[in-house]
Amino acid sequence: MPTRLSDYVPYNFEIAEARFDFRLDPKSTTVRSLLTMKRIAPGPLELDGEDIKLVSVEIDGRLLKRSEYRLTQTQLIVAETPDEFTLNIETVCDPSANTTLMGLYVSGGRFFTQCEAEGFRRITYFPDRPDVMSVYTILIDADKSTYPTLLSNGNKIDGGEIDGGRHFAVWHDPFRKPCYLFALVAGQFDRLDDSFTTMSGRHIPLEIYVDPGDAPKAAYAMDSLKRSMAWDERAFGREYDLDIFMIVAVRDFNFGAMENKGLNIFNSSLLLADAQTATDMNFERIESVVAHEYFHNWTGNRITCRDWFQLCLKEGFTVFRDQEFSADQRGAAVQRIKDVRALRARQFAEDNGPLAHPVRPTEYVKIDNFYTATIYEKGAELIRMLKAWLGDDMFRKGSDLYFARLDGTAATIEQFLDCHADASGEDMSQFIQWYQQAGTPRLTVRRHQTPTTPVISQTVSFYQETLPTPGQPNKKPMLLPIRWQAIGDDGPLMEPQLTVMTTDETTISYPRFDVPHSLSVLQRFSAPVILNSDATTEDLIRLMGQDPDAFNRWEAGQTLARRLLADFAKALEAGRMPKMDTALRDYTNALAVTLRDPQFDDAFKALVLTPPSAMEVLMVAAPVDPIAVHEAGNWLSRAIADTLRDDLVATYTVKNDDGPFSPDAKAAGRRALKGRCLSLLAARFDPLAASLATNQLDGATNMTDEIGALVTLSRLGGQRVESSMTQFFEKWKDQPLVIDKWYSVQSMRHHADGIQAIIRLAEMPSYERNNPNRVRALVGGFAFGNTKLFHKIDGSGYRFFADQVLDMDTRNPSVAARLLGSFEIWRKLDPTRQALVRAELDRIIAAKPSKNVLEIAQRTRA
Ligand code: ARG
Ligand code: ZN
Repeated sequence: MPTRLSDYVPYNFEIAEARFDFRLDPKSTTVRSLLTMKRIAPGPLELDGEDIKLVSVEIDGRLLKRSEYRLTQTQLIVAETPDEFTLNIETVCDPSANTTLMGLYVSGGRFFTQCEAEGFRRITYFPDRPDVMSVYTILIDADKSTYPTLLSNGNKIDGGEIDGGRHFAVWHDPFRKPCYLFALVAGQFDRLDDSFTTMSGRHIPLEIYVDPGDAPKAAYAMDSLKRSMAWDERAFGREYDLDIFMIVAVRDFNFGAMENKGLNIFNSSLLLADAQTATDMNFERIESVVAHEYFHNWTGNRITCRDWFQLCLKEGFTVFRDQEFSADQRGAAVQRIKDVRALRARQFAEDNGPLAHPVRPTEYVKIDNFYTATIYEKGAELIRMLKAWLGDDMFRKGSDLYFARLDGTAATIEQFLDCHADASGEDMSQFIQWYQQAGTPRLTVRRHQTPTTPVISQTVSFYQETLPTPGQPNKKPMLLPIRWQAIGDDGPLMEPQLTVMTTDETTISYPRFDVPHSLSVLQRFSAPVILNSDATTEDLIRLMGQDPDAFNRWEAGQTLARRLLADFAKALEAGRMPKMDTALRDYTNALAVTLRDPQFDDAFKALVLTPPSAMEVLMVAAPVDPIAVHEAGNWLSRAIADTLRDDLVATYTVKNDDGPFSPDAKAAGRRALKGRCLSLLAARFDPLAASLATNQLDGATNMTDEIGALVTLSRLGGQRVESSMTQFFEKWKDQPLVIDKWYSVQSMRHHADGIQAIIRLAEMPSYERNNPNRVRALVGGFAFGNTKLFHKIDGSGYRFFADQVLDMDTRNPSVAARLLGSFEIWRKLDPTRQALVRAELDRIIAAKPSKNVLEIAQRTRA
């Protein structure tokens, strides 16, 4: 019984105003609603509800008898109602017992909500769908000393004391919204205050609520927020609308963060940071997620989704916006490289496996299972292509039209594309395929070298093909914007070209040059495709040195490395040692040239020195022994380090000498390069690596250096590792976010006693099995980062992992289902391991898990 896009029908009623009174009590919270209902279509009144107790239903003040409504596991149905009426409902729920962390729950003695996608139904009976939009007024009544802060969406319009040591607050949100954007927070918090003046001169107080004592750690998030607000005005003409903007941090949270209107709620791991406890990656993520949630105020809240199939309408566009913001703040090329690395590691894996689905799916069992890399990251790529195709000005014109035309509505992808069609005059009928067709297109490039004299032009052909994905055997050609340029030994030989490919193949002619040249294709990664290029090693080396497009300069090295890694993995799998051949020598020499070149910044150099992820290699070498892939990576790193050894030591020494801490891109780039040098030295087991790492660990004044040194030591092995791990734990045991890092470093170690070590970690008293961050650190870290133990050929890794998923599923199905996603790559593995994973999937299915886990297990298994 999946939900289908084709079954969409509007709701029977409009709810202009919604009033909810919360009487908060951890074990028994009462919710009373007062809804002004107006019929717009014939039919019954259907309200969603789950795991809540119905106390009473009244229509126009009259209490309904039990025979006048029907109650199922998931719905309250009233067959007959007037056309206009007021509806009063009273329900009771138990937030303290809510381990799903959806709806209203307790974390650290405080109340929080998470409603997207379908959590509001765990709070009260209501049409829990995004196209029912109302103006909300919320009254919160709670014990004053335990819950001094009472927050909800919009503006606070009333408050005061009541009898029995209680107090209340009334919040009103003047903007119509669906219930998934509702939020409520109550408890004891410290607050960081600031303000922002909008482009029209409105003064907006900004408030970040955190655990007592943590306010200084919210400073970077606050700074990011102000920069986001200014950027959205500049880049998209979007101004903030309410009179106040609030963010709250919570330790127990299912995902990253949530864009509730005027009251964003964040996983504390994506909000709190200081030099001592957070890495540069943490700072970077905080900046981007703060921006992401803020940008949702327009792309998500002012314009929301008609139904959950349209999720990419808000997520794809908002990810694109946060990527553009980060590019503006931190440098476009480096940002693009990082985004594409993540896309390849996660989205390409998904799009080329059993869980492949279109950016706009047509059916789902649990929508929670569709907050995927495809909907988010590929969704963002589609917006990026739209912009590349239409041009910057037309794209802005189309976006402006979208904000003007659809403000206050729950919209669809068609409506979004119509705005771009109307603004640009372009036909969107082929582009919309990107939303409907799953799978990563493969783009093949063939150069035709036309022989000698009278010839004045030469040609390049592009061919595209998308392989079948589950439920979609036949694929159509996509619209591909391909940015390309011919490059010679002294740089570009022509201006960059944009070829908009719309058919299966196309051939372009371009001037003939009298010098050797190479083609730089898909500059800036202009389309999310897998490129099969006919570039030779010589071409790639030329591009590594000369391509004016920094992304493709990096990409040329990655392409070479991917080819080398795939060969190495195959050799190692067959029991042969890889060879130091000319391609490898040319590649490592080209890396040395880049490392020494002062025109490149440190962050870029660090990325050039980072070989493709194991996932990328798995994709090209499959089916393959994943441990051989891992060893191939080590082998390549070692070869790089052997060639660059003296440069790595020299660079490390120069970059190690940093002044006072700053989280900015330049300083972070310097630490990234230093970290890369250290881990490459460790890959060749350089005697110097251990002492550099030990000194770095002992002298570290920031978490990037500290954890980097710890990871390096753990890779090197030796006696120092256990004591360093223990010391680190003792030093940070009062900082849960740092202890999460400790668990993830531990989960990725290739412990001598194998899975037993991981099981012991899961049995430690400090392992909080209800906390998603902690579980992701250990179980997620293990499945994604511990190649040798997860993929151990005796199946013990897979078995442990499946046990953990089933255990988490009894408390938190959405987090359990997301973890299970790690099995999506099983068909890329060697036959023995495929059989092992299949057996675990069967065991999970047989265990009668939650709908969330069952859907993922069945789709993965198919
Ligand atoms: N809308 C939130 C964001 O992208 C994420 C909500 C995740 N919800 C879920 N059911 N997975 O920022
Ligand atoms: Zn989002």
